[in-house]
Amino acid sequence: MLLLLSVLLLKIVLICGYNYEANYIEVPLDHYSFGKETFKMKYLVNNDYWDSESGPIFIYTGNQAAIETFANNTGFMWDIAEEFKARLVFAEHRYYGESLPFGEDSIKNENLRHLTSEQAIADYADLVNYFQGGRIIPQYPVIAFGGSYGGMLATYFRLKYPHLVDGAIVSSSPMQLFPGMTPCENYYIIATNNFKRSGGNCEKNIRKSWPILRTHLVPSNYTKLSNQWNLCDVITLEAEVDAIITFIKGVYETLAASNYPYETDYSRALPAEPVNYICGFLGGDNMNDAEIIEAIGKVLDTFVNYGDTTNCINYKAGISGGSHATGAWGYQRCTEIVLPTCTTGTGDMFEPSPWNLTAFSAKCQETYGEPSYPDKGRIMFGGGRLHAASNIVFSNGQLDPWAAGGILKDINRSVKAVVIPDASHHLDLMPSHPQDSDAIISARNMFKQNIRKWIQEFRTRENKLKENLDMSL
Ligand SMILES: *[C@@H]1O[C@H](CO)[C@@H](O)[C@H](O)[C@H]1NC(C)=O
Ligand SMILES: *[C@@H]1O[C@H](CO)[C@@H](O)[C@H](O)[C@H]1NC(C)=O
Ligand SMILES: *[C@@H]1O[C@H](CO)[C@@H](O)[C@H](O)[C@H]1NC(C)=O
Ligand SMILES: *[C@@H]1O[C@H](CO)[C@@H](O)[C@H](O)[C@H]1NC(C)=O
Repeated sequence: MLLLLSVLLLKIVLICGYNYEANYIEVPLDHYSFGKETFKMKYLVNNDYWDSESGPIFIYTGNQAAIETFANNTGFMWDIAEEFKARLVFAEHRYYGESLPFGEDSIKNENLRHLTSEQAIADYADLVNYFQGGRIIPQYPVIAFGGSYGGMLATYFRLKYPHLVDGAIVSSSPMQLFPGMTPCENYYIIATNNFKRSGGNCEKNIRKSWPILRTHLVPSNYTKLSNQWNLCDVITLEAEVDAIITFIKGVYETLAASNYPYETDYSRALPAEPVNYICGFLGGDNMNDAEIIEAIGKVLDTFVNYGDTTNCINYKAGISGGSHATGAWGYQRCTEIVLPTCTTGTGDMFEPSPWNLTAFSAKCQETYGEPSYPDKGRIMFGGGRLHAASNIVFSNGQLDPWAAGGILKDINRSVKAVVIPDASHHLDLMPSHPQDSDAIISARNMFKQNIRKWIQEFRTRENKLKENLDMSL
């Protein structure tokens, strides 16, 4: 009986989860010098539908997390694998997951210097070359996919290695959020629009909540409010007041970025339309201070505990992805992926907080022993100036704060843009769902059309090359 039950359970896991095999490839630690050091980069593969004669390789250019996160959450690739007879590959970004060049010590400051986007795409180039068997004329068309920073990498991969990558599907990537390219407040204006869209007084109440929080978060109330909100650590210092307020701001922006039409479990478990859900607490008329404070407690609880866990609110750990979060992503955001955001309290509903590169860079120096290199991303990759690029589709959801830096207009006939109303951060890359809007469905169809075109271009070109080679022999 027990055995039967466990067999049944195993089946269920296989049905719900995606089925991939984990492998490792040895890649140079530094692609830009001739050192002998290497490390093992992890990747996941699925060949269920692959035509191993000529089927395309769909490669997800992994971003800042363990690669399983992206394999599990990029349902679009799984959905189209059969139709295209594609091999699916998910490549893990160096310094994340198990792809740790210095093992446990990888995120020590002295070991972080090989963590750059250039090195990451060079790793992916080696992986693609390996899958092509090192052939000069490649056997398989290769299409890159990525969401957010992963989409920036997919773009850079196509830009830098067009002979290895035939096209890229890029979702929700802030290509032109590098310094000077986009007004820094735009990100938070889009975040705020999610709360306005929800109607009621939600946006107004959040806007008026900041001075209320500052008034009540005083030493005599620290213990009481910490308990009321179920904080893991009782507030004892003024710096911790700033930390909890920053955390609350982070909750709102994360909910805006995750404002999906159905329940999701992407970076965390969230209800359908999470902004509307929490506006159920914060949308009331004439809410007084105590009611607003109580509502914010419910917002924090929803954010941390939706899906019946009962964790305390670990505000000191911050919300992952913060620009000074410790670890590999904090280092990348500091050094190279410098994406200025700011609030003014006018177009957005937050406390004013200007962007200050000097202060930002000083904090980076203090945390990682490296300052910011705010021009590096632009000089290497061009931000939004992609007129020499080809075979890329940029997609952005109108609810996604990161669309502030997105490419929203076609650049030329082969570098295209699609803007999806009512969609948030890489909803388009998620698996198809009964609640998909027509706009999401047509964006995915447009991706498929372009992929088909790029594969056709590959076949035409490579066949010609082969014919020429045959004739010259
Ligand atoms: C990915 O999915 C598998 C199978 O469903 C699960 O065991 C694993 O924990 C998931 N990993 C991540 C990082 O989401
Ligand atoms: C915080 O303390 C002040 C004065 O000590 C008090 O008037 C106020 O009601 C307290 N706020 C909360 C939410 O308990
Ligand atoms: C930016 O930060 C630096 C260092 O903290 C500070 O000296 C400077 O006054 C700030 N600039 C502005 C415009 O606030
Ligand atoms: C887009 O620009 C690239 C780079 O100049 C070029 O190779 C490509 O042919 C252009 N596509 C079209 C359709 O204009």
